[in-house]
Amino acid sequence: MIYLDNAATSFPKPSCVCREMDRCMREYCANPGRGGHALSLRAGMAVNRARDTVCRLFNIRDPMRLAFTKNATEALNIAIKGLVYPGCHVITTPMEHNAVMRPLRTLERDMGIEISVVKGNDFGEIDPFDIRREIKKNTVLIVSTLSSNVNGIIMPVAEIGRTAREYGIPFLVDASQGAGSLPVDVEAWRIDMLAFPGHKGLMGPQGTGGLFVREGIRLRTLMEGGTGSNSEYVYQPEIMPDMLESGTLNTPGIVGLGAGADYVLKIGTGTIHEYKSRLTRLLADGLAQIPGVRLYSFADGDRNSGIVAMNLADMDPAKLSFILDKDFGICTRAGLHCSPAAHVMLGTSGRGSVRFSVGCFNTENDVIYAVEAVERIAFNAAL
Ligand SMILES: Cc1ncc(COP(=O)(O)O)c(C=O)c1O
Repeated sequence: MIYLDNAATSFPKPSCVCREMDRCMREYCANPGRGGHALSLRAGMAVNRARDTVCRLFNIRDPMRLAFTKNATEALNIAIKGLVYPGCHVITTPMEHNAVMRPLRTLERDMGIEISVVKGNDFGEIDPFDIRREIKKNTVLIVSTLSSNVNGIIMPVAEIGRTAREYGIPFLVDASQGAGSLPVDVEAWRIDMLAFPGHKGLMGPQGTGGLFVREGIRLRTLMEGGTGSNSEYVYQPEIMPDMLESGTLNTPGIVGLGAGADYVLKIGTGTIHEYKSRLTRLLADGLAQIPGVRLYSFADGDRNSGIVAMNLADMDPAKLSFILDKDFGICTRAGLHCSPAAHVMLGTSGRGSVRFSVGCFNTENDVIYAVEAVERIAFNAAL
């Protein structure tokens, strides 16, 4: 089996992730932060170790500003819904995932917020100056994906961050694609809130993610409950991360996420991105040679986080993805990838596309085999 669906969830996981999760479950998985006994303290320390490790990866100086969530979607909802209010204005890009667009559109319909989506070129690339042009007196948030989950295009996040800081507007980045391989630095890129999943490039298990919130950004909570702190206080504690971490945490998952982030730190995001870029170029260049193939991604690692989106003539992408799986044992994803607006930009909004996404455990042979598989399917379809 060749797994080329790493943009959905990375697979396989490094063995250190499985080992640390297993150890947690067997040796100390008590409730962290809820008791003074030895196992609760050990679980709490393990969670905080994971917090420190993830913070090192993103250059977050104060680990207490990082709250764990169950995925990127939850983190994005907490950030967006916690900040906006009726009549305010939000700026975003045309390549956002539904995890950003659905909360925004729902708030537009139910609360009357105003949304500006800047335009992009045929690959969804935006000019950061267009973000600046959209700023108004009531703009309270700028949201950008780090990289598109449809075609891998990398957004000019550092430039957008500079503009946002200049105008004093909070800047939220969805790092779902690219975290773990691109050099995310919340200080250098002036990111005020960073939402990320644990189960993609950070190599952790599903059910994990997180949200960094810079000191000074005030969010309303979406959920209140037990935090193990200030229990006598009738309202939600305002200290981070407790404010955003109600209820029992996913301790084994967070431990796995910490081990995954540690693995990434040891290899280095630069090395991972370089390796993935080599595979991406091989894949894109190989597919581009096949008659009938239309690519929607750049081959160049400076502009692509590791995704190749394509279609084969007028074949339904779902059919192509199905044949790749059934006849060749290759896992890809077909359709609209939860980002309908991105498909409008790419001109694929009717049927979507087939997405190949490489991970750091793929090899050149995987990629060569995938190209040959598409070549055979194209040949058979032409007969
Ligand atoms: C760009 C982007 N944003 C958000 C998400 C949602 O991530 P999660 O499934 O962890 O909530 C995804 C998932 O594919 C994504 O690619």
